[in-house]
Amino acid sequence: MSPFEHNKVKITTSVKIISYLKQIILIPFPFRVIVYVIMEKKMKIAVIYGSVRQNRQGIRVAKYIVNQLNKRGIDNTFVDAIEHKLPFLDKMYKEYKGDAPEAIEKLHQIFESVDGFIIVSGEYNHGLPPALKNMLDHYQIEFHFKPSGLATYSAGMFGGVRAAVHLRAVTSELGMPSIPTTFPVPSVGKNFDENGNTDNEFIPKGFEKFIKEFRWYAEALKAKRDKDGKP
Ligand SMILES: Cc1cc2nc3c(=O)[nH]c(=O)nc-3n(C[C@H](O)[C@H](O)[C@H](O)COP(=O)(O)O)c2cc1C
Repeated sequence: MSPFEHNKVKITTSVKIISYLKQIILIPFPFRVIVYVIMEKKMKIAVIYGSVRQNRQGIRVAKYIVNQLNKRGIDNTFVDAIEHKLPFLDKMYKEYKGDAPEAIEKLHQIFESVDGFIIVSGEYNHGLPPALKNMLDHYQIEFHFKPSGLATYSAGMFGGVRAAVHLRAVTSELGMPSIPTTFPVPSVGKNFDENGNTDNEFIPKGFEKFIKEFRWYAEALKAKRDKDGKP
């Protein structure tokens, strides 16, 4: 089983356990509340990757990030545009009246349930990949008052920073403003193998700074939402 599949099984299992524990009536009342509160408090994030090219390279960066999150015990869901086959945008999720197609409904549930978004994006003509933009455009309120972290990459030496400039504008408009530090990866095909391993010593250093900051923002905004809700 690949680390991705393993991760998916873990997430599905933990979702099932959580909903089971929420409903269980055998645990005496005060303990039931404690279990519920502890499990609800845990931060969850979505890693979003939007290239659907057959020979896509950014999957290596996405795998690196998912592996790093797992190592740190950060609960995450990997959202891969190639698996979540959304149509080209017709209606946004909010425009459906409870009759959204399954693929759109499923992503709504995921985005709604997480506390922040790491967006893994290549640079396509100085902008972002169309499937990624299409995925983001379907949703709105699901993103609000949660942070985003921008992990960009390119085949060349600039690490997709021009896509990050676009993404800053898009994520702000979507109500998930991006954290200051980005995670730009140059020469994506050379810096990672197919499993997302790297021997470039600068990459873990860059990621450490990025994830430390992202975690801070995600936890801070989650604490505020838990306390006061969204305005
Ligand atoms: C349509 C297209 C446009 C591209 N434009 C740029 C660009 O503007 N700047 C750049 O550095 N690389 C550009 N590239 C090269 C990408 O950085 C490289 O192919 C990368 O691997 C794309 O991500 P993906 O493999 O995950 O799809 C472009 C690639 C494609 C397919």
